[in-house]
Amino acid sequence: MSGRGKGRFLMDVLALATAQITAYYLIRYLIRSVDPDHKTRATLDRQSSAVLSRLTSHDLSAETLTRFEKTILTEVVAPEDIAVSFADVGGLDHIIEDLRESVIFPLTQPHFFSANRSLLSAPKGVLLYGPPGCGKTMLAKALAKESRACFINLHISTLTEKYYGDSNKIVAAVFSLARKLQPCIIFIDEIDAVLRQRRSDDHEASHMVKAEFMTLWDGLLSSSADGVPEQIMVLGATNRLADIDEAILRRMPKKFAINLPDRVSRRRILSLILSETKLSPTFSMDKLVEETAGLSGSDLKECCREAAMAPVKEYLRQTRAAGVDVEELKAENLRGLENGDFWKVPGGVRRKTRQELDLLQVKEFLEQQLERVDDYDDLGEMKRLPEAEAVE
Ligand SMILES: Nc1ncnc2c1ncn2[C@@H]1O[C@H](COP(=O)(O)OP(=O)(O)OP(=O)(O)O)[C@@H](O)[C@H]1O
Ligand SMILES: [Mg+2]
Repeated sequence: MSGRGKGRFLMDVLALATAQITAYYLIRYLIRSVDPDHKTRATLDRQSSAVLSRLTSHDLSAETLTRFEKTILTEVVAPEDIAVSFADVGGLDHIIEDLRESVIFPLTQPHFFSANRSLLSAPKGVLLYGPPGCGKTMLAKALAKESRACFINLHISTLTEKYYGDSNKIVAAVFSLARKLQPCIIFIDEIDAVLRQRRSDDHEASHMVKAEFMTLWDGLLSSSADGVPEQIMVLGATNRLADIDEAILRRMPKKFAINLPDRVSRRRILSLILSETKLSPTFSMDKLVEETAGLSGSDLKECCREAAMAPVKEYLRQTRAAGVDVEELKAENLRGLENGDFWKVPGGVRRKTRQELDLLQVKEFLEQQLERVDDYDDLGEMKRLPEAEAVE
């Protein structure tokens, strides 16, 4: 081939390659512009890779996960990223002790339980129930941290709304991902909203979600191929126990009542909340414990927060009057917190009246009685215990 011929040949090859590359990018652009899910999928890939990089105890790669597993992965929290520990939870010592023995130990030491399988078994479902603001969510998070288990913080919307028509696939992904991440806690906060009593007017999707969830949940009771129980547990929290489906309750043999804190618990919670606050020498913890009767843990936190603002406001007012520059304000010049600083904010947390406290007592008594009634059938016979509870 002459020199000119060679040059023309090279030019042709170059033109052909350029045309092909242009066609490739053009087609890719066209496909992306007609695919409405492209952006969502790219975001999902980015988010799931970020979560995977935090899960240092697992060497999962994003390529081995399905789209639905990746969606669930965005709701996974690594134990190291959870800020709350049992030490931050006040006044629930007996429950924490029980959780250590009956939940954390079986979840983290499955071999111990496989050797004694006929007599021991780990609960596959645990329910925390009680009035709002008493520490259920906090306790669930601390449980995941202390057990060093991955924590799938499952949101109701993920199960029911996002993937209309694909609900059963997303439920299946919850369990398949939990298997890949075990030991793993599947946490459903406000479980009454998603797994409530089944009614005839239920939306078909939510009906399917419940049925699929229960089937897969039952699958957890069987051990894996090597005879070791699966290290997966469903943890639910609710303040509407009566609204939860019977079948779901049966699958949660361990139930913990997280009630309003009593005097001893309030003292523990208040001590924790005020541990870093400067207190006046005249401050009386006994008085505050008495005044806070009937309040929840979250009310206690809020009323302490409101009260702690009083010395700050006072200091600011004084310094402004004295013409002190804002730069010169010092936190150590604040006066200590006094009992008189509480209950001052209009519209803030208020003390319970005698009447309200009496009502609370009656309500608690009735709830205890109702719980007992639930243990008996219509003929007054004690109901058969669910299988998982009977073998414990
Ligand atoms: N026992 C407790 N010890 C320390 N802090 C508590 C305790 N209970 C509640 N709190 C405080 O109240 C806040 C709210 O608690 P949490 O969200 O756990 O309540 P909850 O029982 O899940 O309420 P809800 O039923 O409304 O979801 C916590 O973040 C914490 O600051
Ligand atoms: Mg909660």
